[in-house]
Amino acid sequence: MANDVAATTTPLAELHMHVEGSLEPELIFELAQRNRVTLPYRDLDDLRSRYEFTDLQSFLDLYFANMSVLRTAADFADLTRAYFARAAAGGVRHAEIFFNPQAHTARGVPLGEVLDGLGDAVAASEAEFSLSSGLIVGILRDRPVPEADAMLTDLLASGAPVIGIGLDSAEVGNPPSLFADVFARARAAGLHAVAHAGEEGPPDYIRQALDLLGVERIDHGIRCLEDEDLVDRLVRDRVPLTVCPLSNVRLRVVDRLADHPIRAMLARGLAVTVNSDDPAYFGGYVDDNLAQLRDAVGLTDAERETLARNSIEASFASAARKAELLGGRPAR
Ligand code: ADE
Ligand code: ZN
Repeated sequence: MANDVAATTTPLAELHMHVEGSLEPELIFELAQRNRVTLPYRDLDDLRSRYEFTDLQSFLDLYFANMSVLRTAADFADLTRAYFARAAAGGVRHAEIFFNPQAHTARGVPLGEVLDGLGDAVAASEAEFSLSSGLIVGILRDRPVPEADAMLTDLLASGAPVIGIGLDSAEVGNPPSLFADVFARARAAGLHAVAHAGEEGPPDYIRQALDLLGVERIDHGIRCLEDEDLVDRLVRDRVPLTVCPLSNVRLRVVDRLADHPIRAMLARGLAVTVNSDDPAYFGGYVDDNLAQLRDAVGLTDAERETLARNSIEASFASAARKAELLGGRPAR
């Protein structure tokens, strides 16, 4: 159930959400039946009992395994619509969603099925859910660079309505520098650029993402706090950080939500936004993240309003859409 968002006058944009990570257990079973996929789980409880993670990799193993039920354009459209419905109920009016083509093509699902399904849902999101939306293609950084390069070629040739490129999956040992050429090509083709950095990886990966990939936002970025000069730079240049508090707890980046540095990050002047990352796996959607932060760290209404404003300003929505969402206040 969605949380009350009345305290926030500015609506929310969600900028860091992997659509495959919004695959709820019930939908996994429904799609398995639809596509005659045999699941290695006895029932929903058995599946849910596996949602205990020790680190990013332990989550990724289940995340990729459960994608086996996604096969057709209709599956991808249903998945995306279910996310839009839940996000809209929680106060989200603009969403930029990641998807991982390599995770599907590598198991024989044609790229066209993925793009058709996601594209249909995105095209209808304003009419169906009063929510503007865009797609960000996520490169799997633990797979070979030539594979990412080939995927980008196919994607650009498809004419799919993709607004940006991102970098995700297992971070440590897979630095942004590996993908400098792929990102240069994507940016030259007009895509926005973002990258996961500083989740489990070191602050230097954040610098690499900025300097070598030319990213406009950093996904997670929470480990910037270990490098004071880097924090100064992020504040000065107003680089948005798409922080995911419940994810950070479930993947043991922080011990408890009560220890989350979100308020310190805001106080330091970082352009922080709050996001759900993989809401079906981490215990909640963006409104759940905000509600739990209020209880765990005493997030105030004013801080919540700043987070909402930051999310709109950091989005890749048009200037007119940003102004509309900010209620007439100009975007910075
Ligand atoms: N893919 C899905 N969720 C992710 C996360 N939190 N970090 C890296 N890759 C991901
Ligand atoms: Zn993520």
